[in-house]
Amino acid sequence: MRKGRYSATTSEEPELLAVTKLTVDAAYAVAPVPRRLFGSFVEHMGRCVYTGIYEPGHPTADDAGLRSDVLELTRDIGPTVVRYPGGNFVSNYRWEDGVGPQDQRPTRLDLAWHSLETNQFGLHEFCDWATKVDTEVMMAVNLGTRGLQEACDLLEYTNHPGGTHWSDRRIANGATDPFGVKLWCLGNEMDGPWQVGHKTAAEYGRLANETGKAMRLIDSDIELVACGSSSSRMPTFGSWESTVLEMTYDTVDYISLHAYYEETDADPLTFLASAVNMDHFIEDVISTADAVRARGRHAKKINLSFDEWNVWYIKHFRGDGPQPTHTEWVTNPRLIEDEYSITDAVVVGTFLNSLLRHGDRVTVACQAQLVNVIGLIRSEKGGAAWKQTIAYPFEQMRRLAQGQILQVVATGDKFDSATYTDVPVVDAAATYDPEHDRAALFLANRSLDESSRLEVDLRGVAAQQVAAASSLHAGEGQNRHTTNLEVHDAIAPTAFADFQFESGTLTANLPPLSWTVFEIECRPG
Ligand code: AHR
Repeated sequence: MRKGRYSATTSEEPELLAVTKLTVDAAYAVAPVPRRLFGSFVEHMGRCVYTGIYEPGHPTADDAGLRSDVLELTRDIGPTVVRYPGGNFVSNYRWEDGVGPQDQRPTRLDLAWHSLETNQFGLHEFCDWATKVDTEVMMAVNLGTRGLQEACDLLEYTNHPGGTHWSDRRIANGATDPFGVKLWCLGNEMDGPWQVGHKTAAEYGRLANETGKAMRLIDSDIELVACGSSSSRMPTFGSWESTVLEMTYDTVDYISLHAYYEETDADPLTFLASAVNMDHFIEDVISTADAVRARGRHAKKINLSFDEWNVWYIKHFRGDGPQPTHTEWVTNPRLIEDEYSITDAVVVGTFLNSLLRHGDRVTVACQAQLVNVIGLIRSEKGGAAWKQTIAYPFEQMRRLAQGQILQVVATGDKFDSATYTDVPVVDAAATYDPEHDRAALFLANRSLDESSRLEVDLRGVAAQQVAAASSLHAGEGQNRHTTNLEVHDAIAPTAFADFQFESGTLTANLPPLSWTVFEIECRPG
């Protein structure tokens, strides 16, 4: 290991690049790529729903008031599952307010975001939107201000074929066929003091277990997610997961994880290394879940639903945990509309790599959120919609990560930041699809100002040639802070040519602070 060498370069010295050697071999398969790894999240928060996905009167609005421009961008990005309706919002939400004739729906106080919720958009509108973007719905029930009965009512409404009170109400409201929602979150961030109806682990564990058991009596095919910690920094982290899983193990299928990261204290290297923390968080939750499994002599394994993750400049927000910044009760205020830079896109790439590397146990993941609110997409009321920088790594991995996840064997230069030690300069993940004879390599160069020399042994996947390569990095007149706010397509991956491929070995110079993707054609097995 030659740690920190790349950052010690001075103009008098010959240029020393960080070097990384990778071996990618079909024999090191981790697991099939879980398709639900590429999920997103639509919360009734700020302008995610209203003027985000839904804006009757917008020039592109369809008959249902859905913005076609946002529909198009969402189809491109292609989230495979979308969590709804919250988030903190769900913990004081009455789902019944959002069904039935729109002119009869009540306006309510949303305590989570100090907003007025008009309920013009609800369950039917969301399921209609999900069908139009061809995504799976992941539904959350309110275990803050409500409980077992209301969760069962909602499930009867969405999934029961007919002939009962709630299923007939759905039919009367225009949906003859059940929505068939399979994936259900039992509440949201119930460990957080900011959560409306916050609970102790034991209070939540009992409620989640009884609610889940009753829901399974209505529909035995559903999959249930218990709330884990809302971040690994929570004082109850670890003990929360342990207690909750002790009380729910036979009932639930997943435990959730949430994590947000940001650049602070003029320390970009720590920010660029954030996925190290994500790796540890995931591994700690797996260990905790497996310890409960061993203690209880359970056969099944609990998988992980990383159902909120992203870069979030929470320092622009006040309080201990998410708190609204406005005092008036208003509809769809601008909340946490972070503009994402090239640096953020590279960091998001490393998060995707972390999730993919752990895809044997992280089998659901939702980037938070889809539009405007820390969004992949930005939209303006009555105006344009565009992709943020972070949408590109997401879209590329969703499209290209097919078949099997491969363990990448890596050696190379590392660096220390103020918080993390031995951080690989190049972060990598790979997949191999034997059905289509394709491999994909996902690479983040964390070096702020230098290229990284890369050598990849691809003989183990019988690589024939590079089918395509692209890289996202600062171009002419841009720097690491450039976003897509002013020029909406300023930052996007461009064709990448600084590589050679010979006898199964790929060599490349990865640009400074970049996200680079290779599609490899392999010899048919
Ligand atoms: O995604 C924004 C908020 O972050 C969600 O509502 C909450 O679950 C988390 O704290």
